Amino acid sequence: MSENVFPVPPQIAANALVDQAKYEEMYARSVSDPNGFWGEQAGRLDWIKPFTKVKHTSFDPHNVSIKWFEDGELNVSANCVDRHAAATPDKVAIIWEGDDPGDSKKITYAELKDEVSRFANVLKAHGVKKGDRVTLYLPMIPEAAYAMLACARIGAVHSIVFGGFSPDSLGARIEGCASAVVITADEGLRGGRKVPLKANVDAAVAKLPVVTSVLVVRRTGGAVAMTEGRDHYYDVEAAKVSTDCPPLAMNAEDPLFILFTSGSTGQPKGVLHTTGGYLVYASLTHQYVFDYHPGEIYWCTADVGWVTGHSYIVYGPLANGATTLMFEGIPTYPTASRFWDVVDKHQVNIFYTAPTAIRSLMGAGEALVQKTSRKSLRILGSVGEPINPEAWMWYHNVVGEGRCPIVDTWWQTETGGILITPLPGATALKPGSATRPFFGVQPAIVDAEGKILEGATEGNLVITDAWPGMMRTVFGDHERFVQTYFSAYKGMYFTGDGCRRDADGYYWITGRVDDVINVSGHRMGTAEVESALVAHPKVAEAAVVGYPHDLKGQGIYAYVTLMTGEEPTEVLRKELVAWVRKEIGPIASPDLIQFSPGLPKTRSGKIMRRILRKIAEDSFDSLGDTSTLADPTVVDDLIEHRQNRH
Ligand code: WT7
Repeated sequence: MSENVFPVPPQIAANALVDQAKYEEMYARSVSDPNGFWGEQAGRLDWIKPFTKVKHTSFDPHNVSIKWFEDGELNVSANCVDRHAAATPDKVAIIWEGDDPGDSKKITYAELKDEVSRFANVLKAHGVKKGDRVTLYLPMIPEAAYAMLACARIGAVHSIVFGGFSPDSLGARIEGCASAVVITADEGLRGGRKVPLKANVDAAVAKLPVVTSVLVVRRTGGAVAMTEGRDHYYDVEAAKVSTDCPPLAMNAEDPLFILFTSGSTGQPKGVLHTTGGYLVYASLTHQYVFDYHPGEIYWCTADVGWVTGHSYIVYGPLANGATTLMFEGIPTYPTASRFWDVVDKHQVNIFYTAPTAIRSLMGAGEALVQKTSRKSLRILGSVGEPINPEAWMWYHNVVGEGRCPIVDTWWQTETGGILITPLPGATALKPGSATRPFFGVQPAIVDAEGKILEGATEGNLVITDAWPGMMRTVFGDHERFVQTYFSAYKGMYFTGDGCRRDADGYYWITGRVDDVINVSGHRMGTAEVESALVAHPKVAEAAVVGYPHDLKGQGIYAYVTLMTGEEPTEVLRKELVAWVRKEIGPIASPDLIQFSPGLPKTRSGKIMRRILRKIAEDSFDSLGDTSTLADPTVVDDLIEHRQNRH
């Protein structure tokens, strides 16, 4: 791995919110006096009723309980909208850049307040009350932010499902949190192509009587089926209500949102975040990690369907009164210059994207970057997966022309906000390292037995104490929360990631150590892909692992055993790929399928995934001990027929 060190550039150091000494001082205080530190930081929000307690948390597996500011009351929408609408009504809150380069608009904080309030009144008119869950299945249009903030305004709990998920995946997530109301659009638009969102909702809710209202935002104006009594066009409903909707006082520990995410086993989990601690953390990290200065234009290219969109397109930036750019399209439409064209068009200062996007644009060549100016750029960010040093260097040298620090931010859906990251004015950078912990975050590296390892070392990444932005529970299943995160290593939050720490105390995330794979920065449980495959009538058994993929980071490698008598043909291979896309969504498409008459199993019938991973990685000369297999000869067949990824 690269050990180049990039010091803080002088022009960044001169204006940064914190330098290295200040970081060390603030960090030390944040962990030695969490009540003092977070109590002060919570002052960045407007509280309706001030809190008297700050931290009240326990990682003890017999009693996992996470509470912050527990007797305080606030409203997230009032903090993200109303207070800025009062102070800076004409300031642009959201710059929306449509899929088509000719399509963009700006929404001021005053306008945002009206839109959010109107949306909230429509929800109320459809019976939504405090604590009710509302599922959003929307494209990247301003209405997505309005709907999120409208839920927050009236105490409803949103659950956003990424628009790339299939009707089945959507249905499972609607059911998983029992939403009576679903908000969608007629169609989405991405890279010039239409996405049939409403049709997908129809298929998803056909068997779900729990859904009583579907609100349809008109995006393309395409004709869609409308079920009488259940489906309503949002604009028609919006015309019936006022723009006056007072925000409801919420307890700091009332739920704000649920976001389903894949784990190593079973169905996706509903990660639950609450209002007070989450917003304090999203706001603080957005300000310090991106060194956000008032007036700057900030762009995070994620989709609101993922946690990055929640914390760093909507809640963090808007809590800070920032101008946040929301992009509907894709990096390569109409050309692979699109990101940089948008940077110039809107004079973006801070740009936050994923390594997979960087790698794909790298492949399109430097000329497409160089024809744009990018002079407005000051800070670059990376999130979602480890960034390989080559992509880091290209991002730094070609996109940032060597002058913009790159903040490589490590975090998870569960963590609510960034946990390990450089701060632009404080941290010398090493390409590929997420560097140091954020304020209040206490990472540790443990061995398989849970012993904390000191100094330069490698092992599993845990966090030893609570931070305000962390998830509170798995919706409806606290036991699963405890089991998943607090039982592997007693008294510690287990991240599921492997990690190395170097002699300078820098953290290097090495990837998941569980059966979760990271495809283009999207998290995928191998168990989900396996259950989709075995649902196909011709498939008897399937085992799915990740393998290194040049663009996606990890690709999906599936070993499939067919039913007796079925022929392993190319046609069937394509059919299975299409099947998984239909069952889960395009992000779960297997890249490689190997038809294998047998899978390596122990005598007790457990599939030895370690062996399958090695074969998929092409490192089959280090398979380790195969003598415990029920039938060691299957391994020779697997190696012989392995899929060539080159
Ligand atoms: C997993 C969490 C956090 C928002 C996007 C993904 C991996 C995330 C990095 C990074 C190395 C990273 C980890 C983590 N990951 N950021 N900067 N360097 N790995 O959220 O879907 O919950 O996935 O993404 O493996 O556990 P998520």
